[in-house]
Amino acid sequence: MPAPYQPRSYPPIPEFRTIGVIGAGQMGTGIAQVLATSGFEVRILDVDPRAIARALEEIEARLVRQVAKGKLAENEKRAALARIRPVSDYSAFAECELVIEAATENEEIKRSIFKSLVPHLRPDAVVATNTSSISITRLAATTDRPERFIGMHFMNPVPVMKLVELIRGIATEEDTYQAAKAFVEKIGKVSVTAEDFPAFIVNRILLPMINEACYTLYEGVGTVESIDTAMKLGANHPMGPLELADFIGLDTCLAIMQVLHDGLADSKYRPCPLLVKYVEAGWIGRKVKRGFYDYRGERPVPTR
Ligand code: CAA
Repeated sequence: MPAPYQPRSYPPIPEFRTIGVIGAGQMGTGIAQVLATSGFEVRILDVDPRAIARALEEIEARLVRQVAKGKLAENEKRAALARIRPVSDYSAFAECELVIEAATENEEIKRSIFKSLVPHLRPDAVVATNTSSISITRLAATTDRPERFIGMHFMNPVPVMKLVELIRGIATEEDTYQAAKAFVEKIGKVSVTAEDFPAFIVNRILLPMINEACYTLYEGVGTVESIDTAMKLGANHPMGPLELADFIGLDTCLAIMQVLHDGLADSKYRPCPLLVKYVEAGWIGRKVKRGFYDYRGERPVPTR
């Protein structure tokens, strides 16, 4: 149970300049890149220092490509990279006006992160979570500042995808929402507002489609290739649903389906047993080079 609600008042929201990012996985890495190229100072933390090293390498490689394509000047690239500082503990977030949590999609992990984070924060700092499905109200209640807490859900790959979903918890103040909205515009993205219901808008619609693609495979209606080709050429999707599932991560897809299933208590959200099996095998998609496709060779090869 969360602690009893304690009303409190806050200093005005400061201008965001230095932004903390918690988690250096694919989402945290993309968020850090976008923030740095938009002129923000970034502090990035991960439990695994290797993840941060990988994130910095990836960001540098992507910016080098952008310079090569003439989309970014060499000095802009250097300045952006210099704005990203890896940090090793939460005290480094004391200078941040905004902290964005982008850790694993697991409520327990997120709760423990917020518990460790909030004692270090400035009293006027805003906290955002990039959760793709978990209740913002419930996560906000684990902090000392539910009024200054908001869902800020980026899409993968963050540098490419235009959308950010903004989700207010029951306590989120209008000032927090307006500051988040202005911030999303400043980083060149478009926001939509979703109510705080399981998986919000994008994943409420997208994940049941991916889950249905898993059932289509499970029931033998199509193969991995035919399902993906059908949706790419038949519905004009840039990636087939199984390729997209591998891209998102099958562990994340399953976690979102479980949130939908538990939160809406409707059997139509039942996670496909085949999706469960892939996750149990550890075949969770591109990040481990194996999911519905095997990515170890030159070209992805369907695993079924
Ligand atoms: N990270 C960063 N940039 C990337 C990238 C990545 N992983 N993959 C591709 N890009 C960039 C490329 O560098 C390239 O940039 P430039 O135009 O500046 O050169 C651009 O994207 C296009 O790349 P490509 O030409 O190589 O590839 P493409 O045209 O096939 O597009 C794609 C790649 C943008 C990923 C496209 O396949 C796509 O839109 N796929 C669907 C993505 C999607 O649906 N995302 C939402 C997932 S759901 C979600 O995120 C919510 C959640 O909570 C689960």
